[in-house]
Formats: sequence, C-alpha cells, structure tokens
Amino acid sequence: MLVRQDGTLVGHACWVERGLQPAGLPILNTAYIEAVATHPDWQRRGYGKLAMARIAEEITGYELAALSPAAVPFYERLGWEHWRGPTAIRTDTGLLPTPEEEIMNPAPAADPAARPRRHEQRRMARRRGVVKAAESG
Ligand SMILES: CC(C)(COP(=O)(O)OP(=O)(O)OC[C@H]1O[C@@H](n2cnc3c(N)ncnc32)[C@H](O)[C@@H]1OP(=O)(O)O)[C@@H](O)C(=O)NCCC(=O)NCCS
Repeated sequence: MLVRQDGTLVGHACWVERGLQPAGLPILNTAYIEAVATHPDWQRRGYGKLAMARIAEEITGYELAALSPAAVPFYERLGWEHWRGPTAIRTDTGLLPTPEEEIMNPAPAADPAARPRRHEQRRMARRRGVVKAAESG
C-alpha cells in the first residue's frame, strides 16, 4: 500500500500471509504487517496512522493480525499490544524458541473485525505462547 500526498509518495505499508499457531490451537491465517514507513520529511502528520487504518480495512478476512514492531509507541497509540506468551519458529527438527522476538497484535477493542471466539483465542494464545508455523517474508 502506497500513501501519496498530491502525487508525492510519502509512505508505504504492506502485509504478508503467515500462519501463526497459538499453542493448543490450529494454525491461524494471519495478516503479518511489514514495511510500515513514512518518509522522514512527512512524519508526524498522520500518514502512518492512515496507512494502518487502511490496512485494517483490508485484512478483515484474517483470523489474526500481527507485526514485529520497530516503533512500539506508534503502535501502542493505535491500540496494539504486546504478545505476552513465549514464541518459537517451527523447523525441520522441531520448535526453535525465539525469546528475542517481539510481536504485537491489535487489542481486541481496537479490532473491529474481531469476533468473540477470536478474542478468546488470543487470550489463550497469550497465556500459552505462539509458534510461527509458516514464514513467508
Ligand atoms: C513509525 C512511523 C511509521 C510513524 O509514521 P508517522 O506518519 O510519523 O505517524 P503518524 O503521524 O501517523 O502518527 C500517529 C500517532 O503516533 C504517534 N507517533 C508517531 N511516531 C511515534 C514515535 N516514534 N513515538 C511515539 N509516538 C509516535 C504520533 O504522535 C501520532 O499520535 P496522535 O495520533 O496522538 O497524534 C515513522 O516514524 C517511520 O517511518 N519510522 C521509521 C520506520 C519504522 O520504524 N517503521 C516501523 C516498522 S515496524
């Protein structure tokens, strides 16, 4: 997704499909948000927020949204919160813990597409941890 102001490219964002698997649950079809950036000359004017709002409209068909934040306060202001459980990557030889990994998800109240069942899944996931079942980007 490209953000333009009067024809000038001022920012961009995208998402890739990933499978995130909270422990004890099936793999959830996840919109993993990447490449969120506003050109330095145009920052703090609402373009990043606009890009995230537009992406939220586009990803309503996914079971979960997630990202690895480089700007935590920005996402916190948008209503995202940290995944509190442990994380791991599935490899050919088993699960590889990734304790250094930081993941954020939309807080349930900030996710208009969330249904009660998914709220419950996320609560369980935070308690139990998550496994990245498929990497696509
Ligand atoms: C993070 C980034 C995308 C924010 O883009 P932006 O266009 O400046 O953000 P916005 O102007 O839409 O800001 C939205 C809100 O977040 C706040 N905000 C933005 N950047 C912030 C930061 N670094 N720290 C704290 N708050 C921040 C704004 O003040 C604004 O708050 P408000 O709605 O209460 O007024 C931009 O700073 C950037 O491109 N940084 C470098 C790349 C990067 O780190 N991307 C994140 C990858 S995960």
